[in-house]
Amino acid sequence: MDEQLKIPIHVAFIMDGNGRWAKKRFLPRTMGHKAGTENLRSIITYAKNVGIKHVTFYAFSTENWKRSKDEIQALMNLLLAYLRKETKTFLKEGVKLNIIGDMSSFPEELQKEVANSVEATKGNDKIYVNIALNYSGRSEIVRGINEILLDDNVKCVTEDSFNNYLYTKDIPDPDFLIRTSGELRLSNFLLWQLAYTELYFTDVFWPDFNEAEFKKALVEYTNRDRRYGGLSDD
Ligand code: FPP
Repeated sequence: MDEQLKIPIHVAFIMDGNGRWAKKRFLPRTMGHKAGTENLRSIITYAKNVGIKHVTFYAFSTENWKRSKDEIQALMNLLLAYLRKETKTFLKEGVKLNIIGDMSSFPEELQKEVANSVEATKGNDKIYVNIALNYSGRSEIVRGINEILLDDNVKCVTEDSFNNYLYTKDIPDPDFLIRTSGELRLSNFLLWQLAYTELYFTDVFWPDFNEAEFKKALVEYTNRDRRYGGLSDD
């Protein structure tokens, strides 16, 4: 791999543009989601090969329930098929799967499949793959606050201790966020965790975001000067 690249520990992805990718090809939106799902394998493998330890994918937001019933159904079916097909690959590649978000409103069959994959991959440590499902950053924070309110032993919280009430408690904050398709917003993704994350926006639609595009993003990351509010070294 390229020696000169600075490799982030954790990269988060907002996989946007599946619908427009399909529209451009006169295909139904669901074909865009299918192509987007198929893109995951090579992105995860590339991330692992360059030494990224954590990747997080925004697959279904709490706001996505506003989409048509058919599209929601198609996304659920894709996710189910993805897990059935990819768990073997996860085992081969050393992927540990983790879900962030509230799966309780998902079909039981899907919840079971997710639980199976998480259980089957729990011993892996080559790369940690987090999939955000029925996730929203604000509701994650509010959920954490409500948990704290229920705990009589907690008299005050610190930034560090609050982390323990988030879905991401065992995951370092993302160093780098990549959003595809030209939209310039966070869309309620990892609001707490992205405080000092370097943001990268590309016009490329998610199904077209390939290894070369990923590498381009990492080159940009390498050239960023992360100061965390302090001063540059040089
Ligand atoms: C955004 O594209 C994408 C989504 C809302 C869903 C992302 C889901 C996948 C890639 C597939 C399922 C995931 C897994 C982990 C199997 P969009 O529909 O908003 O595109 P548009 O903005 O062009 O309409």
